[in-house]
Amino acid sequence: MPLKAAVIGSALAALARTVAAAQPGAAQPVPAPMRDLVWGKLNFLHTTDTHGWHAGHLQEAQYSADWGDYVSFAKHMRAKADRDGVDLLLVDTGDRVEGNGLYDASSPKGEYYYDIYREQAVDLICTGNHELYIASTADGEHQRTVPNFKQNYIASNLDYIDPESGERMPMAQRYRKFQTKNQKLDVVAFGFLFDFTGNANNTAVQPVRETVREQWFQDAIREEADVFVVIGHVGVQMPEFKTVFRAIRKQNPLTPILFFGGHVHIRDATTYDSRSFAVASGRYFETIGWMSIDGELERTAFSEDAGFTFHRRYVDNNLLGLYYHTGLNASTFPTDHGRNVSTMIAKAREELDLDYAFGCAPKTLWMSRSPYPGDNSIYSWLEKEVLPDVAINPSRKDVPRLVIFNTGAIRFDIFKGAFTRDATYIVSPFLSTFTYIPDVPYSMARKVIKLLNNAGPIMEAAPMDNRFMANPEQFAIHESIIHEEEPSADIHVQSSGQKPLGAMAEKRPRLTEGYTTRDDIGNDGDDTVHAPVNFYVVPNCVQAEVDLPADGDPKTVDLVFLDFITPWVLMALRFTGGEYGKEDVQPYIKGTFTELMAGWIEKNWPKQC
Ligand SMILES: *[C@@H]1O[C@H](CO)[C@@H](O)[C@H](O)[C@H]1NC(C)=O
Ligand SMILES: *[C@@H]1O[C@H](CO)[C@@H](O)[C@H](O)[C@H]1NC(C)=O
Ligand SMILES: *[C@@H]1O[C@H](CO)[C@@H](O)[C@H](O)[C@H]1NC(C)=O
Ligand SMILES: [Zn+2]
Repeated sequence: MPLKAAVIGSALAALARTVAAAQPGAAQPVPAPMRDLVWGKLNFLHTTDTHGWHAGHLQEAQYSADWGDYVSFAKHMRAKADRDGVDLLLVDTGDRVEGNGLYDASSPKGEYYYDIYREQAVDLICTGNHELYIASTADGEHQRTVPNFKQNYIASNLDYIDPESGERMPMAQRYRKFQTKNQKLDVVAFGFLFDFTGNANNTAVQPVRETVREQWFQDAIREEADVFVVIGHVGVQMPEFKTVFRAIRKQNPLTPILFFGGHVHIRDATTYDSRSFAVASGRYFETIGWMSIDGELERTAFSEDAGFTFHRRYVDNNLLGLYYHTGLNASTFPTDHGRNVSTMIAKAREELDLDYAFGCAPKTLWMSRSPYPGDNSIYSWLEKEVLPDVAINPSRKDVPRLVIFNTGAIRFDIFKGAFTRDATYIVSPFLSTFTYIPDVPYSMARKVIKLLNNAGPIMEAAPMDNRFMANPEQFAIHESIIHEEEPSADIHVQSSGQKPLGAMAEKRPRLTEGYTTRDDIGNDGDDTVHAPVNFYVVPNCVQAEVDLPADGDPKTVDLVFLDFITPWVLMALRFTGGEYGKEDVQPYIKGTFTELMAGWIEKNWPKQC
């Protein structure tokens, strides 16, 4: 009975509110086999690329804990560090904004986010590229988050330009030197951004290879340090981190150097030599990264013979897992502070009306977990159903057209069930609009999609990387994502938290789908043992052919595309012999793609589930 179900549902939600924290209505977590965290003398928790997902993933049981739960988790982990006389530091490496209604839905953006985010005591924090695309976002970062984290915020290669005076100043301090709480270890920490060039004109990014030649940096790497910690909005396989590594190592042959990266949205870890270790902790607050270093950490004791051991874990942002790692349960885990933060988030979501439903998705539409083209591909759905219907300019509606859409414009799957206001920001967080070039000879226009998808010589010659039209996950996969999980003896079963069930008990629950990461260290990084998720490669761009004549080719078509990919489209046209410039590109239809998509859903999907 729907009524009864609703009553039970809200009773559970109320229970969840009072007992388990997380957000009201969030999916209930499912138990799974677990790997333990390995503690060392110096330990870290790491978030990156949270993109506004501080309410957690309400529709995905595996990642449904919220920022308040993370506040509780960190509190318990710090207490354990204190009890054991070791140290724990929290790191965040940027891209905290853009990609979720909690940040994007307010006007101005971030009205609730800044106060929610600051509740976590992050020890080392830096900037991502998403904090810098729009001048007002960079202003918000400079006026809110930098002061909120004062002595913890680091900007080694980023300047801010004051809008009034035009004065250029470091976004935050260039580096941080401090002692850890319990062992008084001397830490020298840096905070980098990759060599990003797409920032608004109120910030300036210095290429990393130039930063490491600056006098202040050369002085900093000569400070007395027991450990160097380099945090950055930089993929751990990217050259920028290797540049920093070489610069520090040249001066400090024996000192451990720890890297925390991001930007690429994957779980990843590597080493640059036997005394360095680098971890990247995924995206969208699905993952809380863990790193520990053990060994003789006082610099007076460093020697060629004494090495260090490093461990990493990718902790699913799952309440049951957080209970497991702290040995607590639903009644002992939530702290007052954590609960308060969960309440702040719930209030913000309510005031932003993020649960407002545009319609009910009849099935789940995947970005890369289902093949393209295919019935369950979000891109096939766009190509076949949405684009032909929404990409119409009334004055050009009789002109046949090709509508090109870059796959990176979609950022998340659509789950079966209510498609909410929140989902619009999650699925398509961009302000992209449709533009077009009228009356392009069909012989040229038809070739553009293939060129954008790398057929032909174009992109080797091109000054721009084609892959930026797709999602970063698409080009960051090593062979990593799909592999079989071998059972091993160090896996335990999560229950209310305490007792490991020893090696591979028969009672092992059915595996849930999730990350099965393979990185340079091995395939035991994930804290939760999952069944692998399918991953299919999708093209950079897809295309809808609309109103093409049934018999024979049209002479010309309107070439319609998202404004974001204008430079690539012009370049591809040039390769076909079409000399078009920016002045030929005109607005095609009013409204952002996101608004058009929400409108389509409102019209075409049932209102109620
Ligand atoms: C930055 O760009 C804005 C808008 O295009 C412009 O008004 C402003 O003068 C520019 N500022 C600087 C410092 O170049
Ligand atoms: C949680 O743990 C405490 C302390 O170990 C115990 O007293 C309590 O019964 C547990 N509660 C639940 C819901 O398991
Ligand atoms: C939690 O919120 C309550 C009510 O606003 C407040 O009295 C209390 O001090 C807060 N506790 C913490 C630890 O933030
Ligand atoms: Zn990001």
